[in-house]
Amino acid sequence: MTTQTTKNSRRRLTIAVDGFSSCGKSTFAKALAARFGYIFVDTGAMYRAVTLFALENGAIRSGIVDDEALIALLPKIDIAFRFNPKRGASDIYVNGDLVEGKIRTIEVSNCVSSVSSIGEVREKLVAMQQQMGRNKGIVMDGRDIGTVVFPDAEIKIFMTADPAVRAQRRYDELTAKGEQVSLSEIEENVRSRDIADQNRAISPLRKADDAVVLDNSYMSIDDQMVWFDEKFGNLFANSQL
Ligand code: DC
Repeated sequence: MTTQTTKNSRRRLTIAVDGFSSCGKSTFAKALAARFGYIFVDTGAMYRAVTLFALENGAIRSGIVDDEALIALLPKIDIAFRFNPKRGASDIYVNGDLVEGKIRTIEVSNCVSSVSSIGEVREKLVAMQQQMGRNKGIVMDGRDIGTVVFPDAEIKIFMTADPAVRAQRRYDELTAKGEQVSLSEIEENVRSRDIADQNRAISPLRKADDAVVLDNSYMSIDDQMVWFDEKFGNLFANSQL
């Protein structure tokens, strides 16, 4: 028997990555998924897609979410991911429309915490997420993955970083795409979403008791992969499952 472990022969685990906004969760989760040949799911994109649909269909007006109108829209929202080989990641579609490029605007960011605090929204999206992970071999990032979606995940990581560093990262990302935003506006959004995510009544953001904290304020993606190997490499060593 060969001692070499190929992507497909590796043990199929569930990796839950939770943490604050703009911590680089998706970048890290995507790198892990590529390393192990796992599926990667960005659940923030799903909450953002619902928010975009609500904005486009009159359930959010002047930044105020009409909970009843949004709940009535939920059965009309079909979310799907399709792999985009150019990006090496999946793009998100709502009712067949590609919305990847429209869900990360400041307008969506400003409303997504309110939308994600609605129980019916969470119920629908959590059920979809559990379905996607039923065969394991998945890296999912979000806020409640290790606590609610996959409480039995073998690997749970809770990511954090200095809010000022996170705001700068988000600012660089948005201005590179040509969005007109100010750093102070972004920092305000990052801080207010931290408060909203940690204090909402349903599934607030919190570290699962068995999650390991990763503060990546001053770490490159390569540093983070080295950290992962040090913490969890033994779970994959010599595994042929
Ligand atoms: O990761 P992100 O910033 O794209 O997430 C957008 C918002 O969605 C975030 O403010 C909180 C919410 N969210 C959530 O409530 N639960 C998740 N599993 C993922 C995101």
